[in-house]
Amino acid sequence: MGIRYIEEKKIFKMDTERTTYLIGLSPEGYVGHIYYGKRLMGSGSNYLLRMQEPPYTPSVNMREKAPFLDTFPTEYPTGGIGDYRESCLDVRCESGSIGSELLFRSFRIFKGKEKLEGLPASFGGEDDVETLEIVCEDSILQLRVILSYSVFADCDMITRSARIENAGSQHLKLEKVYSACLDMDNKDFDMLTLPGSWARERCIQRGRIRCGKQMVSSIRGESSHQEHPFIALATPETTQEAGEVYAMNFVYSGNFIAQAELSQFGSVRMLMGIHSDYFCWNLGPGEVFWAPEAVLTYSADGLGRMTRNFHDFYREHIIRSPYKYGKRPVLINNWEATYFDFNSEKLLEIAKEAGKAGIEMLVMDDGWFGKRNCDDNSLGDWTVNEEKITSGLPDLVKKVNELGLKFGIWFEPEMISPDSDLYRAHPDWAIQIKGRRPSQIRAQYVLDLSRPEVVDYAYRCVADILRSAPIAYVKWDMNRQLCDIGSGCLKEDAQGELMHRYMLGVYEMQERLVNEFPDLLLENCSGGGARFDPGMLYYSPQIWCSDDVDAVERLRIQEGTALVYPLASMGAHIGDCPNHVVGRNTPFATRGNVALAGTFGYELDITKIAREEREQIPGQVEMYHKYRELIQRGDYYRLASWSMEKPYDCWEVAAKDKSHALVTFVQVLAQPNMHSRVIYLRGLEEEAEYRLEGTEEVYSGEELMKCGYLVPSCKGDFISFLYHFVRN
Ligand code: DGJ
Repeated sequence: MGIRYIEEKKIFKMDTERTTYLIGLSPEGYVGHIYYGKRLMGSGSNYLLRMQEPPYTPSVNMREKAPFLDTFPTEYPTGGIGDYRESCLDVRCESGSIGSELLFRSFRIFKGKEKLEGLPASFGGEDDVETLEIVCEDSILQLRVILSYSVFADCDMITRSARIENAGSQHLKLEKVYSACLDMDNKDFDMLTLPGSWARERCIQRGRIRCGKQMVSSIRGESSHQEHPFIALATPETTQEAGEVYAMNFVYSGNFIAQAELSQFGSVRMLMGIHSDYFCWNLGPGEVFWAPEAVLTYSADGLGRMTRNFHDFYREHIIRSPYKYGKRPVLINNWEATYFDFNSEKLLEIAKEAGKAGIEMLVMDDGWFGKRNCDDNSLGDWTVNEEKITSGLPDLVKKVNELGLKFGIWFEPEMISPDSDLYRAHPDWAIQIKGRRPSQIRAQYVLDLSRPEVVDYAYRCVADILRSAPIAYVKWDMNRQLCDIGSGCLKEDAQGELMHRYMLGVYEMQERLVNEFPDLLLENCSGGGARFDPGMLYYSPQIWCSDDVDAVERLRIQEGTALVYPLASMGAHIGDCPNHVVGRNTPFATRGNVALAGTFGYELDITKIAREEREQIPGQVEMYHKYRELIQRGDYYRLASWSMEKPYDCWEVAAKDKSHALVTFVQVLAQPNMHSRVIYLRGLEEEAEYRLEGTEEVYSGEELMKCGYLVPSCKGDFISFLYHFVRN
């Protein structure tokens, strides 16, 4: 396993446990993509580069270069020189034209992986990961492009990024820099994506690819509610258990594009990177640009294997927080309980009741600072509103701690309200186009985090509050998209750098935060789940999944999110009924069972809910603690999908050592005159016997997986059951 260069064939071979990735060099030095798929035991060869077929390789057969480049399967296509498919790199030189041609120069293979400057990225020790760097050059521009591949053999993951270095004396402009490209032959691929909207984020969409380009993207300055930086191409028969899948995910939280392009010859180009709209980066002599990392996986065993590859990888190689596998306190958040209408007394009432029920942390959400009693003011004025928090924050935290609960707090550090002291003092700190009145969204502007002094200010506001009291948790929110893209401090010809520099500013703040407060539990959030991506997971082990906590809607949202992200990263709470977004009533127990597939917490006024519901909370908290470790570390299997095909939803988490498994079954819609339903478990030991906890029923692993378990039929909508199978 690992990476090899086979000199006589001019092939780079990268192996993971189940996959192989082959790169070959043409006689001229074009870096071509040969193969990605099931593990090859041999060293491979480069006939798949099709250098003997028309249009022939120019240096060998004296044919033209442009038709060759337009068909050649390349690792990193450049624009302007004859490959008419989507390029990864567009460079404008001083003469004003776009064109670059990359030829192989050298390579380096080393154990471990280097950091990406200023960016979140996967990490691993010398035993976990090996890296190949291919150095290419455009000799006219004196531009060096370093293609980087890091191979995480155990998880079947390969990460890619590109570093662009200006080694010449010209002033270059990067008008497009993507991170990864995969040229393959079409296998009648379906494309899977995760589109959505506010309160219904990341719903799985699947459809056959057609000729031309089909893409998902965001130019909103965040990975967004609407699209998601994930794309998979799957063979048509692919199910959870079988079929081939190629997937890419982006370790970045801002603008992105993920695209599949079916060409005239039936080849497919799949790529991912920062969206080129609103992007232009000045690369002066000696300067370097780092493209964010794309994560690639291939599964020959269906979507389930792809999912588990991502889960294992993110848990081991993206999430850094000590809470990754640690015990996270069960929290109660006051947002849906009170919205802006609260004060210390109200919070203490909630904390008191919550403590009695076993809840372990109170989170004070939006509305505690400035003069904020609604959403049209005070962002940027991060001083405690002492009309609401009457005896000050340290005293409130102390009182909550005395009730036996930890204390958490909400911030939205990237924003500035027009009605704020900060805006009155620094109107130019808001992102805006000179001479044009910027748009407000939720009555707020976005801070220009390309400015170091603004980053410093925003960070200081958060840190000062955290230094003032023992605060265990921060919810870092971001409630609007970016527009009117202009900065008062960037030069005219550098305005195209703003959106990426904004992201670098966000990352810098979060990096400082996790370094200064290593024990802080950080939860990212963006108007629900608009910034749920691996970039954010690098800083926070959990991300608020959606503002919709309705148990039924959450089935779909959490299914889509869990297609890629580990269960314990999904912020999931039990809300009140009727649900505030859809008005639906669901049983309290079902809300709990669904939230158990995420971080598990409460989002309601515990002093006001029905006694029968309040009485269920201690049991639910106990259930969370019982299964927490299994959910944080286990293998996730999707057994049935309400959103796709069935009137019920069912998933399983199996311990990696196969010692036990928890199955959650939710009957969304009851059907008349139905038999019991059979569900087929996964990830068990065939020969072992498993007892269904709380019963005398014993089954072999083989039976449960091949013959299935019978879920008794029952009446009623939104009813749910947990089945815990424990190896005897
Ligand atoms: C959006 C978040 O998703 C909510 O949970 C809440 O924190 C509000 N913002 C507060 O303004």
